[in-house]
Amino acid sequence: MGLPFIGETIEFFKAQRNNRLFDDFVQPRVTKYGKIFKTRLLGSPTVVVNGAEANRFFLSNEFKLVISSWPSSSVQLMGNESIMQKQGEQHRCIRGILASCLHNAGLDALVPKICNSVQLHLDTHWHGQDSLSLYRSTKILTFTIVFECLLGIRVEPGMLNTFERVLEGVFAPAIKFPGSRFSRAKKARQEIEKMLVKVVREKRNEMEFGNEQEGMLLSQLVAGMIRGDITEAEVTDNVVLLVFAAHDTTSFAIAMTFKMLAQHPDCYSLLLQEHVNIMNNKRAGEILTLEDMKKIKYTWQVARESMRLFPPIFGSFRKAVSDIEYEGFTIPKGWKVLWTAFGTHSNPEYFEDPLSFDPRRFEESVPPYVYLPFGGGPRLCAGYQLAKLNIIIFVHYVVTRYDWSLINPNESITMDPLPFPSQGMPIKISPKL
Ligand code: HEM
Repeated sequence: MGLPFIGETIEFFKAQRNNRLFDDFVQPRVTKYGKIFKTRLLGSPTVVVNGAEANRFFLSNEFKLVISSWPSSSVQLMGNESIMQKQGEQHRCIRGILASCLHNAGLDALVPKICNSVQLHLDTHWHGQDSLSLYRSTKILTFTIVFECLLGIRVEPGMLNTFERVLEGVFAPAIKFPGSRFSRAKKARQEIEKMLVKVVREKRNEMEFGNEQEGMLLSQLVAGMIRGDITEAEVTDNVVLLVFAAHDTTSFAIAMTFKMLAQHPDCYSLLLQEHVNIMNNKRAGEILTLEDMKKIKYTWQVARESMRLFPPIFGSFRKAVSDIEYEGFTIPKGWKVLWTAFGTHSNPEYFEDPLSFDPRRFEESVPPYVYLPFGGGPRLCAGYQLAKLNIIIFVHYVVTRYDWSLINPNESITMDPLPFPSQGMPIKISPKL
């Protein structure tokens, strides 16, 4: 359990910062104690679990034996009413509203919007440049996609900056003193709240007294509010949560996909051919459709393999709501449980030669609870399909319009606590003739 109170938090953070959480923290303890071991992290006794069976047990028993558990700073900044704090019926209700825009018919409408956003982004931020930060570029784009394509809220100047100030505090210690990361984030959160309350009330007015149809996600949330299913605070907190959930994760997934493509030219040729084939069946200027998305299989295998090796979320914490008996151990009520994606992604039991990059391994289906970049169980990522569209459409327009190369192929990855390329992944670009 390490030292009193802080336990092994320092070792955990050190491993995380070097992007060696699995190799330096989890793996040595698994070797010494087995797949399940206890420690103390951030003041809480914690059980770290590894393997598909443990993932299935803890992730599928959400709300019954465990509930998700976030640091106090995350809860204060996302708000008490966001989906990550909800359980049971309230959780189901918010997921239902999100699903109306993030599944089936919702996806059909999203594809042309994302295509237009990506093209506009490239015309505005890439055109005329010979180098840029790929990670920064994808952050700007992902933010626009969540706001404009999903929610239907126009991005105003300065908004991204204010949101990023909030995100900077999400994992910082929840200590309020002037100038601290958390205080700055709290202040930014208040600014956002003011802006969002205005937007939500205007939308409510339009919907109650005008002809505004239920369409994009903000309208669906406000419709839920008018029906009395959710409150205004639930609308605003969930908008902030969606930005947080999409921002660093999608950007990192895209950055790692490009890193892998740069390191594996044979995979890049196959991927490029896939997009050329799609283009060859289109008229000039015609955009992609949901049908095309289904055909772009190899690109998604490349992205999945990149997320296997570099999961944007390494895992997450749960809290035991009662004493739990598991594999002959008792996990006392109130203890934390940490599941990690690395526990299965890096294990030869589940993935042959796990350190090698081989997108073709995803031609076969993967058994449940083995491949977890998007989590699992009732809290499976609600934006999984949006992330997939965002990644594939961005890759499509970049590879068909630009030649590109990494400026610093050996750039390291660091974590704080989410992973990111330490120098923002600068790339050289030139338009294809
Ligand atoms: C590559 C990109 C993404 C990755 C790797 C990812 C990963 C995850 C993971 C691992 C979880 C589960 C966390 C847990 O079990 O504690 C999660 C939850 C969630 N994600 Fe994503 N995510 C991505 C993109 C998105 C996007 C684009 C959205 C929506 C705009 C989104 C919305 C959500 C929401 C709302 C939840 C909470 C679900 C719930 O509590 O029921 N995510 N995501």
